[in-house]
Amino acid sequence: MIIQPRTRGFICLTAHPDGALQAVKNQIEYVKSKGEIKNGPKKVLVIGASTGFGLSSRIAAAFGSDAATIGVFFEKPASEGKMGTAGWYNSAAFEKEAHEAGLYAKSINGDAFSDEIKKETIELIKKDLGQVDLVVYSLASPRRTHPKTGVAYSSVLKPIGQSFTNKTVDFHTGVVSDITIAPVENEEDISNTVAVMGGEDWKFWIEDLKAAGVLAEGVKTVAYSYIGPELTFPIYRNGTIGQAKNDLEATVPVLNDLLKDLNGVSYVSVNKALVTQSSSAIPVVPLYISLLYKVMKAKGTHEGTIEQMQRLFADRLYTENGEVALDEAGRIRVDDWEMADDVQAEVAKLWNQISTENLSEISDIEGYRKEFFNLFGFEIDGIDYEKDANENVQVPSIE
Ligand code: NAD
Ligand code: NA
Repeated sequence: MIIQPRTRGFICLTAHPDGALQAVKNQIEYVKSKGEIKNGPKKVLVIGASTGFGLSSRIAAAFGSDAATIGVFFEKPASEGKMGTAGWYNSAAFEKEAHEAGLYAKSINGDAFSDEIKKETIELIKKDLGQVDLVVYSLASPRRTHPKTGVAYSSVLKPIGQSFTNKTVDFHTGVVSDITIAPVENEEDISNTVAVMGGEDWKFWIEDLKAAGVLAEGVKTVAYSYIGPELTFPIYRNGTIGQAKNDLEATVPVLNDLLKDLNGVSYVSVNKALVTQSSSAIPVVPLYISLLYKVMKAKGTHEGTIEQMQRLFADRLYTENGEVALDEAGRIRVDDWEMADDVQAEVAKLWNQISTENLSEISDIEGYRKEFFNLFGFEIDGIDYEKDANENVQVPSIE
């Protein structure tokens, strides 16, 4: 069938398999162009492997250091005239390319928060890889059902203490307006968000993997966080999601303790603000990203998820002398170019000026919009969207 984008608010309901394949190929080409990641990972588990930073982590490991990869994600295959999700097509594309390159790649589709999927993953590692030497934790989800209690938690994106008013953009219409977001009404909004996006599930994974004996000597594990500029602090870092990120970061010493006897180590990497399915749902942030892109592209320091993850692996996690550069709080920072003083000063200046009238002139809203559609396989160079696409693409390792 002919597949066109169909959007509802911040989501795109359709996805294009050929566009997804080309986008994955482009990421692979980038990683190859950077050369081998020396001393890189060899057997990798990526939790949240189908889109965004997780997909790029998987590609960087596989095509940067010939790693065997197992990817866990929650996506929908095509069924009865309905197409699959973008992450499904991405994963189909990734496995196809990995297999053609002679690399081991298998995937598990299901709820990573559940005990069942953890068990299934452990069985697959035992059967095929024996052990893994890197575990990437890159889940982003609005909901989590707790595996021990069955309680279903929903996260919220709210400020804490007082309401927050700032500019925001509807990137489909290009209208810049003020938005006011009411603060949390109770402690539960905070604790629910921490339950979904905090560190508990990462800890459960590492505990289960360790208990099963599938973590290799010297294993590393990394999860992703975000800080960003002061202008988004009320909605991000000082808001409910920021409390979850604090919890995630506070899990690092706990995991280090757990991994000590394996000489293993855990990290949080603070990544750059980028267009992904998750970040497009946060108010204010897309407008900030549009200005950030404009400034960083002009300076030649702009990166997408694949540039970020290639750099994370090559220059942070797997350095030649084995040293991993950390900030004063013990975190890896690949948001360093985003947070550079000159970049932030320029973004802050533009932020004060930005309006509907000058949006296309002083921001990279067009780049934001294009990248958003790229996430779903649309507007990818070289794809003929008037041609019939086979929506029924499968992930080879999933029956
Ligand atoms: P994303 O939405 O692109 O990816 C989320 C992944 O999680 C997908 O693979 C999805 O299938 C998987 N997933 C969600 N729920 C699942 C479940 N129940 N079971 C199994 N898989 C599930 O998100 P992203 O932006 O790449 O975010 C990944 C991490 O990076 C998050 O911790 C996020 O906070 C962090 N981060 C994002 C940004 C940004 O600007 N996008 C910046 C810094 C850090
Ligand atoms: Na991800």
